Amino acid sequence: MRPYTILNAAMTLDGKIATKTGSSRISNERDVERVHKLRMKLDGIMVGINTILVDDPKLTVRKLPNEETFTHETFTEKINPVRVVVDSYGRIPINSNVLNSDAKTIIATSNKILKNRKTFSLLKQKADVFICGEKEIDLKRLMEYLYSKGIKTLMLEGGSTLSFSMFKEGLIDEVRICIGPIIVGGSHAKTLVDGDGFAFMESGVKLKMKNSYFLDECLILEYFVKKSK
Ligand SMILES: NC(=O)c1ccc[n+]([C@@H]2O[C@H](COP(=O)([O-])OP(=O)(O)OC[C@H]3O[C@@H](n4cnc5c(N)ncnc54)[C@H](OP(=O)(O)O)[C@@H]3O)[C@@H](O)[C@H]2O)c1
Repeated sequence: MRPYTILNAAMTLDGKIATKTGSSRISNERDVERVHKLRMKLDGIMVGINTILVDDPKLTVRKLPNEETFTHETFTEKINPVRVVVDSYGRIPINSNVLNSDAKTIIATSNKILKNRKTFSLLKQKADVFICGEKEIDLKRLMEYLYSKGIKTLMLEGGSTLSFSMFKEGLIDEVRICIGPIIVGGSHAKTLVDGDGFAFMESGVKLKMKNSYFLDECLILEYFVKKSK
């Protein structure tokens, strides 16, 4: 069993989720509220290590539409999803926001981390460290582990390398994208899904439209991932 997983991201009209320098503020206030509302509804939220290194996100629920605003004290672990970071070598800085005490955090890592015992023991003081893989993370095993820990619904918040691996393993059920009215170009700028990519269109991930709407100038697109036979 694995969590029902939604890939959520904001991208430019030309499909970039960040510029070549890593700048990634694409969406607007109303979309940020949409994302935080979605975070609140889900059990877990997962990112790749590069996203932590570039953005240092908190991955907690902080901004909600007016009618759903809670007092600061209410933002407890009950509201915040469990944060999951995919990090084979334990590269996460110990002062990362995602390791603060606002919510639980799981670091999915590989046997490679055992080479650095100090990092390993420091991390264990701040997070649940789960070893699943020789080098890269075995994402199927990780999903089973998360499910066993009560994470039945999961938001994947990037980046593009992890998103490709998750698609390749057939671990994504829905895609929700915010398209901002901006174009940045750049062959080294991250797109929604990078990784090795599929060689042929026939091998690509097929989607079924679920919903579309505007949040001011941002266009929100929601798709179901069609299961491959
Ligand atoms: N606009 C948005 O909505 C949005 C959202 C999120 C991120 N971003 C942007 O995305 C960029 C980061 O994306 P990214 O593609 O460079 O990195 P990423 O997907 O965040 O992290 C990828 C890293 O995860 C580790 N990893 C371990 N096992 C893996 C596996 N099985 N499959 C894939 N990765 C695995 C690898 O590093 P190790 O080998 O060291 O473990 C890999 O390099 C940042 O610029 C960020 O701002 C944008």
